[in-house]
Amino acid sequence: MSGKITLTMIKPLAVQQGFIGPILSKINENGFRIVAMKLMWLTQNQAMRFYEVHKERPFYNDLVKSMTSGPIVAAILEKENAVEEYRKLIGATNPANAEPGTIRKLYGSSLEANAVHGSDSDENAQIEADFFFSKLECF
Ligand code: CMP
Repeated sequence: MSGKITLTMIKPLAVQQGFIGPILSKINENGFRIVAMKLMWLTQNQAMRFYEVHKERPFYNDLVKSMTSGPIVAAILEKENAVEEYRKLIGATNPANAEPGTIRKLYGSSLEANAVHGSDSDENAQIEADFFFSKLECF
């Protein structure tokens, strides 16, 4: 059965550009419930750990640099089939290839600064949710 949660981050450039409000509106309009949320500035070590699955990829260092360039918003979102539904809402990884109306098309600037992260599987959604939030921070 498909899971009910996904983990999102609003990335530093989108935060800097004032897109927290518009992105959260899209999330609400599309029927996701916010279970947990925080504004924080990732350390290099935290960003490296979060994106550890990509550590052999050529873009890893630039990704870590971009993700530590300013504060992010991390949130757990709840909806039936959350991972897939959220990936539809955010669009393709590269904003240039994302469908019109998707979050990455509307608010993304580049492959790295693609406005938001979204979990890619139910298993990773739980791992990523646990990375940012304790049970006491989930409502
Ligand atoms: P995100 O959903 O945060 O997960 C990994 C990130 O790596 C991705 O969004 C992109 O911002 C970034 N990235 C940079 N280059 C690539 C690439 N060639 N393929 C996939 N992801 C990339």
